Amino acid sequence: MTRKLLFVCLGNICRSPSAEGIMNYLLQQEQLTHAFQCDSAGTSGFHIGAAPDRRMAAAGLRQGIVLTGNSRQVQPEDFANFDLILAMDRQNYEDLVTLNPDSHYASKIRLMCDFCTEHTDKNVPDPYYGGASGFDYVIDLLMDACQGLLHELQQQ
Ligand code: 4NP
Repeated sequence: MTRKLLFVCLGNICRSPSAEGIMNYLLQQEQLTHAFQCDSAGTSGFHIGAAPDRRMAAAGLRQGIVLTGNSRQVQPEDFANFDLILAMDRQNYEDLVTLNPDSHYASKIRLMCDFCTEHTDKNVPDPYYGGASGFDYVIDLLMDACQGLLHELQQQ
């Protein structure tokens, strides 16, 4: 059975496309692409249709990660369609809980950093208004979180 993962941030142009790209990279490395489907979305509609931020895409490429897709906003049906919905920060988490049309799905919503094993951050910091180092840090942090997430999913 294919498990479906949705990564969510505010704009769906920086953090969540990075999480999606990193997870797809790890799934390819582990030859697990048949077992999981990944997508990403934003809680806002600020950037609908936009490609990943070019500063974020450049940081991904520095570590061999290709970012793809176009920004879309979280839809009510996402809560039924995905098995796990991963929020990049606490605000995204709270917004997802509010958007969730049926509290039946609340257990699907998780904080991405809960899966980190090396970093102690609770949130993936929003890099949008900062310098290049913030984008590189997002990739480092999400690599840790995605590895932890994949490890945990493989135990299930
Ligand atoms: P993201 O980053 O949520 O990681 O995609 C942001 C992108 C755009 C904005 C904020 C954060 N914005 O305010 O336009």
